[in-house]
Amino acid sequence: MHPQPNYELFDRAHALRVADLTCAIALQAGLSARVADRYKKAAYLHDYGKIFLPADLLNKQGPLSDVEYEKIKEHISYGFDSLAISKIKGQSTCADVALLHHERLNGSGYIGLRAKAICSAARIVAIADVFDAMTHDRPYKKAKPVHEALAYLTDYSGLLFDELFVKALICICKTKSTDRCLSNEA
Ligand SMILES: [Fe+2]
Repeated sequence: MHPQPNYELFDRAHALRVADLTCAIALQAGLSARVADRYKKAAYLHDYGKIFLPADLLNKQGPLSDVEYEKIKEHISYGFDSLAISKIKGQSTCADVALLHHERLNGSGYIGLRAKAICSAARIVAIADVFDAMTHDRPYKKAKPVHEALAYLTDYSGLLFDELFVKALICICKTKSTDRCLSNEA
């Protein structure tokens, strides 16, 4: 049984930026508008499970202990369980993204799935999530410039992150075809 949800823990600004960027990456990579829209909705809800975590843990400043880190990881299953039984449209993609957005191509993610075992929606959201986390202030760290985030994603392209979708993000940043997702350098 899940803990009681605390909806104030939902980071709407982060969710909106990751949703916009996920949609932009999907379109840039050649996916259809219909698919991009489905991924966008799932991206908005990727961290939905965090509303079931203790507020003091989620807002903690400074490094997490191993026990705390394991607790934070539970947000993927809380999100999956909640969204898998929801009645929202595109519910199965939403649930999959909630469960898999911390997976990495080489199996080093939370669950350990590899490469194509990770659905394409989750592979895009992983990139958008990391990019947004790096380029915006967090309670425990300051924002990095866009070029540093892109350098990190490029360094690990093909190892942790899907090459095609990293390339799409780079194209987007070059043309600045979205504004909300890149707002820290606008
Ligand atoms: Fe997450």
